[in-house]
Amino acid sequence: MNILIIGSGGREHSLGIALKKSKNCDALFFAPGNTGTATLGQNLAISETDFNALIAAVKTHHIELTVVGPEGPLVNGIVDHFESQNLAIMGPHKISAQLEGSKAWAKDKMKRYNIPTAAYATFIEFNTAKNYIESRNVYPIVIKADGLAAGKGVTVATNHSMALTALTDCFLDQKFSQAGLQVVIEDFLVGEEASILAFTDGETIIAMPPAQDHKAVFDGDKGPNTGGMGAYCPAPIATPTIQEQVMQKVLQPLISGFKKDGILYKGIVYAGLMIAPNGQASVVEFNARFGDPETEVILPKLKTDLIDIFFAIINGTLDQLTIEWDTTTVVGVIMASGGYPGDFEKEKEISGIEAAEEIKNVSVIHAGTKEKNNKIVTNGGRVLCVLGQGDSIQSAIKIAYTGVEKISFENQHYRTDIGKKAV
Ligand code: AMP
Ligand code: GLY
Repeated sequence: MNILIIGSGGREHSLGIALKKSKNCDALFFAPGNTGTATLGQNLAISETDFNALIAAVKTHHIELTVVGPEGPLVNGIVDHFESQNLAIMGPHKISAQLEGSKAWAKDKMKRYNIPTAAYATFIEFNTAKNYIESRNVYPIVIKADGLAAGKGVTVATNHSMALTALTDCFLDQKFSQAGLQVVIEDFLVGEEASILAFTDGETIIAMPPAQDHKAVFDGDKGPNTGGMGAYCPAPIATPTIQEQVMQKVLQPLISGFKKDGILYKGIVYAGLMIAPNGQASVVEFNARFGDPETEVILPKLKTDLIDIFFAIINGTLDQLTIEWDTTTVVGVIMASGGYPGDFEKEKEISGIEAAEEIKNVSVIHAGTKEKNNKIVTNGGRVLCVLGQGDSIQSAIKIAYTGVEKISFENQHYRTDIGKKAV
């Protein structure tokens, strides 16, 4: 079967590697892809939001399954578009992708379904939001643009002036356009974060092993938040008891709540969790897709055929499938362009990828890379994700960093403490 993967990051390269292992995979296509995905299949120069061009490519290349990586196309209804033409596509419809596309919508559902999450209020106007913050007068307080803001719409405000700046950005300066014209203000949750992703066909929901991302740009969780500077899986902070609690109190209630509300949710549910010191998990956010870089560290552990899983989701037969994982630990270290998540330069030549991949149990996932004059150059903030797979977290960390040390490009930056919390 021919398969199209939409997106251009490390997540999409990893999805390609996992799908290529399937006995039923004939050819892979990526739109638009990167230098890593070009080694697995054909990159198509089509934007991930150009639904008509994507559908035309699916017909031209006899593609029988489309997998969507990023949130943008999902929130804009790509699944509805494809299904209206009877094309098989893996992901939630526009209505259910609001789980990620509108934080107010997601919080409202969590409240209705009794899913543990921070107390909150929603605002559509600067002054009432400002009055609320001043009457609460507790810091930190968390201010979130309602819509998609490329990971930049959340401020954990530690004082009044920071909170006002966040509200000004949203309402007065309209820094996030439409996405910031509604704002969710929520209480600050204390604890350690973990991500539990799950496959669901709307009836059955099956969790993947827990992962932990490292959002801050510098070691020790210092500096501004990024898309993620590294991850590992499994994350021991999410103990089997906590995983069971998340299934009973978060994932199952979400799917049965949606069913009661007449909403069919098919695809991936990503629960971003805060695990309090007393072991109680609350939802920080939901995403309607695979996480990045979580996917890079979760999928290498998958033993079940991923095409079978995706068709079970599409056909509503997930209850008939057993999904198996190996017992290894995978650590992924992001190598980024210096300056990211702020401004950074592109087109720096990357050396050492092949040398890194010669090391046993190292693999190099491409994120922001492209080819120029037959050389691989940087093309984004997050450039590569170097994976180490081992029998323990310690060995996986060691393997991943042995790979990282082989690779270099001008002004590179990576964290040196990925996975340390789990040791
Ligand atoms: P979100 O996009 O909603 O996941 O928020 C981005 C990051 O902000 C999260 O990964 C957390 O580190 C932090 N954050 C968001 N909401 C809260 C909260 N209620 N309490 C503490 N930290 C939060
Ligand atoms: N790793 C965070 C995300 O995918 O949203």
